[in-house]
Amino acid sequence: MRNLSPLSDPEIVSNPYPVYADLAQREPVYWDEGLNAWAVMRHADCVSMLKDPRFKAERMEEVLSGKFDGQSLPADNIYHRFTKNVMMYTDAPRHTALRKSTHGGFTREAHEFYSDVIQRVAHDLVATLPEGVQEIDAVSALAAKLPVNAAVHAFGVPEEDLGDVVPSVDAVMTYWSGPQDQPLELDHLLKHLTDLHTYALELVQGKRGTVLPDTVIARLAAGQEEQTEVTLEQTVHQLVLLLIALFAPTTPGSVGSGMLAFAKNPDQITRFLDSPACVDNTANEVVRYNASNQFTWRVAAADIDMGDVRILEGQRVALFLGAANRDPNVFDQPDKFDLDRPNSGKHLSFGFGPHACLGRQIASLEIKWFFVALFARFPMIRPAGDPEWNSNLEFRSLRSLPLSLG
Ligand code: HEM
Repeated sequence: MRNLSPLSDPEIVSNPYPVYADLAQREPVYWDEGLNAWAVMRHADCVSMLKDPRFKAERMEEVLSGKFDGQSLPADNIYHRFTKNVMMYTDAPRHTALRKSTHGGFTREAHEFYSDVIQRVAHDLVATLPEGVQEIDAVSALAAKLPVNAAVHAFGVPEEDLGDVVPSVDAVMTYWSGPQDQPLELDHLLKHLTDLHTYALELVQGKRGTVLPDTVIARLAAGQEEQTEVTLEQTVHQLVLLLIALFAPTTPGSVGSGMLAFAKNPDQITRFLDSPACVDNTANEVVRYNASNQFTWRVAAADIDMGDVRILEGQRVALFLGAANRDPNVFDQPDKFDLDRPNSGKHLSFGFGPHACLGRQIASLEIKWFFVALFARFPMIRPAGDPEWNSNLEFRSLRSLPLSLG
């Protein structure tokens, strides 16, 4: 009998691509019972839906009642105040104003500064591996540490506050992306969200640890007084979102899967070392080959026909960015990890359209400078055992990666 939820099967997490390819051919817009959503497999469909305002990003009310069995919360609860005032879950015109309010942290000049900082951070991280070490778990030794170090030095999260922030983000992430039967109770979720807001407000007010100068947080705090379109409370909501994004599994997921791709394809390490163009294309090809956010969500605001299917108003849609990245209509030999690929940048791993990832450039700098530092010291990495994947397909990342350093 046909499996009605092939995309909900934890067995596919280590290699979901054959399932995607099969669905893309048979039913590219597919109703998946387990996800309770339309799953969209093709690149062109994902792009058109991510641009289409009839597919709303505002969706967190449905997620709440789905995850906590029909429960609702009053409108002034922190859950609604946050999700209805944060760029990721709002639509124009509110989304436009919220996103614009963070511009000061993400200018071209700011990114030039972050690039230098991240280059140093990546070098120092690789330098922590002792001389003579033969084998490591590359997730705990490297991939998990890179975004934390970048969070301190490029984003400005005070190092002394990490112990307060990271556990709250970890707890909140189990709600945001964890399985339906996640262990997190609703009151714990609300407590962690409240704690993150208290923390972010104190940070903006200069009452917490030292924010390093010229970092994202320093720039956002400096620009707060000139904000006319958003309130202080909304600024704090955006900062909480940034903290969640910073410590989410996306960046470690990409760095970890990138190490695995290189270790299994040593000819690509040679290309990296021989060609500056390949170095520049590394972040794009690493995230194309394995998206760490395999799918994202929208809700239909009207009945909409997509090819042979009719999506009804109120139904959920899961846009499979990881499947779009392997679409043979866009990428030649999509299952090949290839730094010379001319169009790796067409991947959808950072989304597309108005909600495209705000941290895209910083995450790409982390990936690029990490591999520059790694291969300068260890150009012979190879797998030293089977990698283990976490069981979450939505935020797909490695739990462990045994690597021989050669
Ligand atoms: C490799 C690492 C990352 C990946 C794969 C990733 C992926 C994504 C994706 C797919 C979206 C779009 C979601 C949607 O349309 O529903 C997104 C949005 C976003 N990301 Fe990232 N992200 C990464 C790192 C970061 C970092 C480091 C930050 C911190 C600044 C960040 C901040 C954001 C924000 C604020 C949004 C919402 C933008 C909006 O709604 O306008 N991301 N990210």
